[in-house]
Order: sequence, then C-alpha cells, then structure tokens
Amino acid sequence: MDRHKEKQAEKKIKTASSSKGSRKKAGLIVGGGGFIGGSLMHYFKTMQGDAFEVLAPNSKRLSLREPGDIKSYLRIYRPDFIINCAISPLDSGPQLSYQINYLGSINLAKASMALGIPYIHFSSAALLPMGDNVTENDHLPLSTDLHFYPRSKLMAEMTLNHLHENHGLDCTIIRLGVVYGKHDHKIQGFQRLLFSIASQSMMFLLTRPGIRHSYTNTDRIPFFVHHVLRHRSEFSGQTYHFVDQEPVELGGLILAIKEHLQVNTPKQLYVPYPFARLGRSSLKVILRLLRPLGFDGRLPQELMFLDKFYQSQILSVDKLKRSTFGITDGGSCVFTELHDIINYYISRWQLLNLIPLVKKDLLQTSPGTNAFQNNPEDLLSGLHDGKHEYLSDYDSLNR
Ligand SMILES: NC(=O)c1ccc[n+]([C@@H]2O[C@H](COP(=O)([O-])OP(=O)(O)OC[C@H]3O[C@@H](n4cnc5c(N)ncnc54)[C@H](OP(=O)(O)O)[C@@H]3O)[C@@H](O)[C@H]2O)c1
Repeated sequence: MDRHKEKQAEKKIKTASSSKGSRKKAGLIVGGGGFIGGSLMHYFKTMQGDAFEVLAPNSKRLSLREPGDIKSYLRIYRPDFIINCAISPLDSGPQLSYQINYLGSINLAKASMALGIPYIHFSSAALLPMGDNVTENDHLPLSTDLHFYPRSKLMAEMTLNHLHENHGLDCTIIRLGVVYGKHDHKIQGFQRLLFSIASQSMMFLLTRPGIRHSYTNTDRIPFFVHHVLRHRSEFSGQTYHFVDQEPVELGGLILAIKEHLQVNTPKQLYVPYPFARLGRSSLKVILRLLRPLGFDGRLPQELMFLDKFYQSQILSVDKLKRSTFGITDGGSCVFTELHDIINYYISRWQLLNLIPLVKKDLLQTSPGTNAFQNNPEDLLSGLHDGKHEYLSDYDSLNR
C-alpha cells in the first residue's frame, strides 16, 4: 500500500476505533504487502465492504525487528485484531530468522495480550515431520539440526502455546502447506517450481514417483481467517492445518505444468536423491569458485529443502473438517487453478524479461509501447502536442 493510501486508512482506523458503538472492525496485518498478507488485505478491503478497516504498514513503518515500532504504532492505532504474515527470507541467517520470525511474532502476541485482542499467526509445514497423516500435535524436535526458518517458526509456535496456556493469550496458529495462487511478487515455493519449468532450467524430475505434499490455495485463506475471528471461543488457543483436502503428486504436477506450457523439459526422468544431492553440492562449489571472477550466483532457496522433494508430507485435515469451518474447497485444487496461475505468472515474467517467450498470446502491450521501443522521440512529441492520448485526464479532481 502506498504511503498516501496508508495514511487515509490510518485516519479512518483512528476514527473507527475511537467512535463509540462503531461496528466497523479495525485490523492490523503485519506483512500485508506479502503473498498471504496481500490476499488478506484484498479480502478485507474489497470483499467485506465497509465492515473492516485494515492497516498494513510496511516493514519500514513497523519493523518486527524493532520492538519500539510495535509499541509506538499500537499506542496510536488500537486494532480489534492482529494478523501476523511477516516472515524473513527463507534462507536468512540466524539473526533475521530469530528477530523477525520468533521475537517479532512473540512481541506482537504480547502486544495483543496487552490490548486484549485476538492474534492470528501463520506457521508452516516446514516444522513438521515428513509422512502421511501428520497431525496438529506433531512437530520436529527442536534442535540445531533444523534450518533457521523452521527452527524460528517452531519456537514461535511453542511460545505462543505457552502464552496461551499460562497467560491467556487469545491466539490461533494456522499452518499452511505449499501455497499457490496469483499475485506473489517474489519467486519462491510453488512459484519457484513454475519458474524453473518456464525458464527451462529444470532438465529432469527432482523427485520420486508417488511423492505427495499438501497444498494451500491462497484465495481460501482469508475466508478461514475471517471465520476464525468470528468464532474465538472455538478457535482460541488452537492450531489448524489449512490445506486442500487432497495432496498433490509432485512429479504429476511438474508434468502438468510442462504440458500446459508446451515446453520440452523437464524430461520424464526421475533423478535419484544421491545424484540430486551431488548436483546441489557441485553447484555450490562451482558458484563459490566463480566468486573471485565477479559472478555472484546463488542457488534457489528451496534447494535447502531438497530432501522434501523425495519424501511425502501429507497434513491431516481431520481437525479442520470437524471444525465449524469444515472443508470448503468444493473439490478445487492446484490443478483446477493451474491455467489462471500459469497465465498470470508467465505474463508477468515475460514482461519482466525473466524467462524466454513461452506464451506469445500473453504479451499484452499497452498503447505506445511499440513507439517507446522503436521511436521514443516521435512518441514524446506526440504526447506533448496531444496527438497521443495515452496519459489519463485528472481535471475532474479539480471540480
Ligand atoms: N508462501 C508460502 O508458500 C508459505 C508456505 C507455508 C507457510 N507460509 C507462511 O505464511 C506467512 C506469510 O508468508 P508469505 O509467503 O506471504 O511471505 P512474503 O510474501 O515473503 O511476505 C513477507 C512479508 O513480511 C514482511 N516483513 C519482512 N521483514 C519484516 C520486518 N522486519 N518487519 C515487519 N514486516 C516484515 C514483508 O514486508 P516488506 O515487504 O514491507 O518488507 C512482507 O510483506 C509466513 O508466516 C510463512 O511462514 C507461507
């Protein structure tokens, strides 16, 4: 959200929270500019009409690394609930993972406790063991064997549960699987998979036949969050897996994307895990050797979870099914959404010159683009003398 819009929202939220008897709910979404936070913002702002006023300061305004930021922000704005969607980059070192994912999450929870409002926290399947039917009670043991990301997420869950049990924190933890959907501006997780097929950098299948994982549709998350906020007595102090009912076979998904894009790779050849590991280690060495020559390449963050491509992880949805929310996906899954998702990202990445042209029909050009590319002088004089009407008219703002 740009600064002006944010200021307007802040003004309204101050009014909303100060006007007695107002039925408008005020919410603070930390990480509202991210993938999940953006989808929540969209839902509360556009789909809930005037029922909510939502604030989503960016990390420069409210940084979870600065406990003072949280305090000074909440002294001014008094939300009715807080949703934490902030996260450090997956491959962050110990300091950022600990400060943002652990300390930041807990500081927000303590602030919620002080304000006496619900706190919704997003967590991840990364802290869960592999296997079928993984339940909400399961998690990996806390140890230095865990990467910093799952370690910080696990510690946050543990402290949130401790605060609920011992200090009455009103919190719900929502664990997500691999999240798919449009409007993610980073290339990570599901989008990384799509990107490596679209950029034709995946030669063979880095998985085993039959390996399945749980997926989450980003568009469905806000409906669950809204429900959870309306039913605090049921959801307070609870952890839920929020994933599609049916897990997805990784090899099948990769081949479906390949078919949709009509590209030649990856070949339908499954790379055995020891070879995949060897490939990853060799690439690391090559990249390190290239550094003195000025090439600063990095492996995709997801490769730190390479072992997960070779083992199934299926999250149980029994608890969600038994809840008053239930299972509402209506049979939709990543395959039913694939066409839209692929078109969105391919169009975006083609425009950003990140991938070769794989879908020509998705290259939409706004008026003037060709002239901008081939004859900028002509374009500029046409714009100045009014021959081209590519600029919008704002005179109505004057009235
Ligand atoms: N995406 C997935 O596939 C996935 C899967 C499982 C679980 N999850 C969970 O879902 C949640 C949201 O993930 P996401 O994919 O939406 O993340 P994302 O797109 O990477 O967004 C991260 C957000 O965190 C904010 N942020 C970063 N550092 C911050 C700081 N110091 N203070 C305040 N805000 C900060 C960023 O704000 P700025 O841009 O302003 O810096 C950004 O809006 C996380 O808890 C994650 O563990 C995600």
